[in-house]
Amino acid sequence: MRVAMIGAGYVGLVSGACFAEFGVDVCVVDTEVSKVEALRAGRIPIYEPGLDRLVEENARDGRLSFTTDLAEAITGADAVFLAVGTPSRRGDGHADLSYVFAAAEQVARAAKGPLVLVTKSTVPVGTGRKIKEILRKVRPDLEIDVASNPEFLREGNAIGDFMRPDRVVIGAESERAFAVLRRLYRPLYLIETPIVQTGLETAELIKYAANAFLAVKITFINQMADLCEKAGADVHDVARGMGLDGRIGRKFLHAGPGYGGSCFPKDTLALARTAQELGAPVTIVEQTIAANDARKEAMAARVIAALGGAAQGKTVAVLGLTFKPETDDMRDAPSLVVVPRLAEAGATIRTYDPQPGHARQMMPAGVHFADTALGAVEGADAVVLLTEWNEFRALSPQKIKAAMKGDVVLDLRNAWDPASFREAGLTYQSIGRQ
Ligand code: UDX
Repeated sequence: MRVAMIGAGYVGLVSGACFAEFGVDVCVVDTEVSKVEALRAGRIPIYEPGLDRLVEENARDGRLSFTTDLAEAITGADAVFLAVGTPSRRGDGHADLSYVFAAAEQVARAAKGPLVLVTKSTVPVGTGRKIKEILRKVRPDLEIDVASNPEFLREGNAIGDFMRPDRVVIGAESERAFAVLRRLYRPLYLIETPIVQTGLETAELIKYAANAFLAVKITFINQMADLCEKAGADVHDVARGMGLDGRIGRKFLHAGPGYGGSCFPKDTLALARTAQELGAPVTIVEQTIAANDARKEAMAARVIAALGGAAQGKTVAVLGLTFKPETDDMRDAPSLVVVPRLAEAGATIRTYDPQPGHARQMMPAGVHFADTALGAVEGADAVVLLTEWNEFRALSPQKIKAAMKGDVVLDLRNAWDPASFREAGLTYQSIGRQ
């Protein structure tokens, strides 16, 4: 089989490389010449564990290629995937669909025969129908089926999520489209992956419903953590006690500084806007968005409070800047709120992140980037653990204490053992625990 993947961003690259690994011929298209040249030379523009090896091997074996020429890429393709960006439109939170529509139109113009056009980008409910209209207008002569096949890839674990998904969702309106997509995912039949076959609108909504539900779940446990602190309870045990109920489940009940990333913030906002427009507001998601935004601000206030109410002249070490571990992605990371607020309050900020590439461009001027975690901690009045990279878990509290000037530690991910930090003479605070 042969597919074209339009967009060499996170989703397009991972999906393209994984389909190639399934034995499919994949051509990935991007308009950015430098990106395509880099990929051809084996350089991967993002950090995702295992992706470099997958791209290298499949490119070497001739199943994965990169081009800027969309017409060449879609020639002979059984399916063309749209994996272009759908950022939040400035101001109103709606997903910006201009890249999706432009790509669909280009595919229609360049198509030489019937094909299946599949949206992998997260697009609001109703987008597939609009794409159908565009195709009909541009190429009334041609049969182009439209399908929706949303991705559920977690950054840092994207290849595993693609190769061993909980489910594959296929929304379409023709047997041909279903058949092409089922054939593409055939390797997953061996591991009995459930395939949800449904309509276009339903598939589009499943993606938003899943992400919004997870965002609500995280926000719920975050608010429970605040309540635990007031009530003298332990959020860790509350999460475990709740999560063992099979109806609830243990995952995504980890209290923290608020969710970030490329999906939850943007998708919750887009879902809330779409739902308002369609006259069926999802107020629980609206509340979640507001609570999560407020939480990031509250984290900065918490650090200042732990410093005795003033950050002026104090040195704060921030460990972890990316929105979660095993990624270099900074989109909507809590650090983008916490660090600027501390800097505005007069603190000197020392940071360390194992993947600081993007963070370097996004932190306020004057923020110091250390080469090691202990290097960042050097001379600090307070240490804030903001992203739970594995290497931080192994840090010795004695060494932290010895490197610091002060003794305040705020573990905003509950990654450290409170007793051993206190034994080392540190004033240790975490989230939702005593
Ligand atoms: C998410 C979805 O999981 C994925 O299915 C979708 O396709 C894209 O969005 P991702 O953004 O990569 O994936 O990260 P995820 O692991 O889901 O974490 C999102 C945010 O929630 C992170 O900031 C993380 O720190 C936070 N989080 C997650 C918590 O605070 N607590 C949890 O229990 C889980």
